[in-house]
Amino acid sequence: MLQVKSLTKNFDGFMAVNGAGLSLEKGQVIAVIGPNGAGKTTLFNLITGQLAPTSGTIRFKGEDITGIPPYAIVRKGLCRSYQVVNIFNRLTVFENVQVAVLSRRKHTFNLFSNARRMAVNETSRILESVGLKDMAHSISGSLSHGDQKVLEIAISLGNRPELLIMDEPTAGMSPEETEVTLSLMKKLSDEMGLTILFCEHDMNMVFAIAHEIMVMQQGKSIIQGKPDAVRVDKQVQEAYLGGDDICYA
Ligand SMILES: Nc1ncnc2c1ncn2[C@@H]1O[C@H](COP(=O)(O)OP(=O)(O)O)[C@@H](O)[C@H]1O
Ligand SMILES: [Mg+2]
Repeated sequence: MLQVKSLTKNFDGFMAVNGAGLSLEKGQVIAVIGPNGAGKTTLFNLITGQLAPTSGTIRFKGEDITGIPPYAIVRKGLCRSYQVVNIFNRLTVFENVQVAVLSRRKHTFNLFSNARRMAVNETSRILESVGLKDMAHSISGSLSHGDQKVLEIAISLGNRPELLIMDEPTAGMSPEETEVTLSLMKKLSDEMGLTILFCEHDMNMVFAIAHEIMVMQQGKSIIQGKPDAVRVDKQVQEAYLGGDDICYA
């Protein structure tokens, strides 16, 4: 589904991504881990078209999407959520998702007139699937941080993604909120067959859900493999963990 090869991003002489590779099959959940500044967010920005790579290639569903603008990539079924919450605070939960559904169907301009009656069924279904149905008519800005992140995922679903990219989905969450996000991601993967690429600091979370893990350090991908293989890899332990075992429950 996704193949990233020899990707680099040069910011005024600084190589934030310096030869990263990644490969993802349909239905897989893959985690990218690595210390702060390793280049994870930059890598995701390159894949989703927010940044243009300096060199390297990105193929999605067999097609070269390197350098294509973000809106075109979203239309191909590659969607993302951000490290920082990205919603319309003054709209209701329902309206936030409805905007995404309408915009996919190219009806955005009528949102505040007859379009209110449009896409209602699809929007309701999405809210039900992520567990936000009871909050449909709450103002989004009043939601807890955890619920806002779930809303962000619901907005992504409005774009009908095949591949969902999530930058630190549990950043700033309480343990309870992290648990809710984890089970939602499992549900998206198991029940809806969504392919997921995410980066995350919480190792318990990574080892609980990832089919494979890719480790980044200083812009490079140093390994991609099954969790058990990554955990015992000497290079990973030295580079990423200062020689200690990756600790996880
Ligand atoms: N727009 C930018 N201009 C210059 N340097 C950047 C820019 N974005 C990120 N960087 C640098 O690239 C490196 C990787 O950052 P980032 O991709 O955010 O890492 P991570 O998400 O793994 O913490 C960091 O050293 C960061 O300061
Ligand atoms: Mg980051």
